[in-house]
Amino acid sequence: SSVDSHVLVIFGASGDLAQRKLIPAVFDLFRGGYLPEKFALLGASRTDFTDEDFRKKVVFDNEHFEQKDASDDDVKTFSEKLFYQDLASYDGEKDIEALAARLIKLDEEYGVGKNYIFYLSTPPKLYSTIPGALAKAGLNESEEGWSRLIVEKPFGYDEESAVKLNKDIQSYFRENTIYRIDHYLGKETVQNLLVTRFANGFFEPLWNRNYVQSVQITAAETVGVGSRGGYYDESGAMRDMVQNHLLQVLAHVAMEPPIRADAPSIRDEKLKLFKSLRPITKKDVKNQVVRAQYTEGRTKSGDVVSYRDAEGVPSESKTETYVGMKFFIDNWRWAGVPFFVRTGKCLPLKLTEVVITFKNPPQALFSEYDDYAMSCDNQLIIRIQPDEGMALEFGMKVPGEGFRVKNVDMDFFYRDLTKNDVPAAYTRLLLDCMKGEPTLYARGDSVEAAWAFIDPILKAWEADEVPLYSYTAGSWGPLQADALWKGEGSGWRNPSDSLTEKKH
Ligand code: BG6
Repeated sequence: SSVDSHVLVIFGASGDLAQRKLIPAVFDLFRGGYLPEKFALLGASRTDFTDEDFRKKVVFDNEHFEQKDASDDDVKTFSEKLFYQDLASYDGEKDIEALAARLIKLDEEYGVGKNYIFYLSTPPKLYSTIPGALAKAGLNESEEGWSRLIVEKPFGYDEESAVKLNKDIQSYFRENTIYRIDHYLGKETVQNLLVTRFANGFFEPLWNRNYVQSVQITAAETVGVGSRGGYYDESGAMRDMVQNHLLQVLAHVAMEPPIRADAPSIRDEKLKLFKSLRPITKKDVKNQVVRAQYTEGRTKSGDVVSYRDAEGVPSESKTETYVGMKFFIDNWRWAGVPFFVRTGKCLPLKLTEVVITFKNPPQALFSEYDDYAMSCDNQLIIRIQPDEGMALEFGMKVPGEGFRVKNVDMDFFYRDLTKNDVPAAYTRLLLDCMKGEPTLYARGDSVEAAWAFIDPILKAWEADEVPLYSYTAGSWGPLQADALWKGEGSGWRNPSDSLTEKKH
């Protein structure tokens, strides 16, 4: 379906996210012909900019805007759709009244209509203030059009604050007009998990406790916290990656088949999955969750100073830059199957992948020929990024005498499927919101359920009931995380290369 004329209002438009992701994503949509003829992007923030200053900042002088060449007609036409409204105080109803007046003016001058998307890309303390002010100004619902609200992460700081934030926002906007963005859901390969599972006949019969030995999800990054220390130290790996992105990936891997491929059905199944997570109680935390901080070392991104010496990080900080955890899902499909999730900064590779390890055959028939046959892992590796794709590992006979077995893999690269670039996550998600399609956004109840699972862990950490380990930057994390696998087989898959480097 096509996109209605509308105005995309970005609060916090002079900030980092807008420059790095949002403006380039809107430009991609423009260039791809997805934007309606009548469209305006209205940046709003405290900086005192004119429309021209704003265009310069986010387009022509924006290092993340790759095609910013001013002589390019597309860029010029695009930049003319950008406007700016400054908000002197941010909390003032006056600001929002001025914004409302500006929206009417934009419609009068350019006929952009009265449909609005409000994107909250501000510090989280404004996440209920702004919707409140929008509601007061009557911009939350309009008789002449639609109004949608996009909320960036972090959505809450813990369970209690997430519940409160939902309650606040839902008192201003109807749930079906609230779009909680999680950019991992915009990744093609995360969506492809559903297609892999539910468009093929042969995966799903194996996708359960009878055949699966374990499931592991890794999101590794080579970068440290860089200049984001101030933000990151308040957050940590659990809040920054696990509570949102990795639990969403988990939901795609583990949820039951939805009755239909529409938003309510898919979101219902995710909620059910989150509710089936076996709680990690405060006393289980030390056995099931490992937290750690990186110390000085060397990664692919270069030399790094220890986390505590990073800009904006207190020297006594107890914030984790690595989390490794093991947990169970109490439902019929997954009873007894261990799930492992880990993420960290300053690890050896930038890589996000899901590994399904299948059970061994009941007898090791060929072990007398080769001990290697014993270590033959049947794994399905789903590469979320980079080198989007999949590999299936299994044992094949080594040519020659006897029955020696060797692990081989069959792989598929997503890039072979399309000549075009896979669309960036924000591009895809913004387009969905413009169309009023919420499937790839997180629903309020499931965000709360995800927090309910994470909360006791954070509480145990805050109470300092479990140690904070360390790992050298550039390593695969603390040794203690390997111990999580005791008695569960294969262990973390720590590839030495990306799939591409191996192939080409
Ligand atoms: C963000 C986190 O949400 O996701 C960052 O705040 C992290 O700390 C990033 O680096 C990872 O996203 P991606 O798309 O690069 O895997």
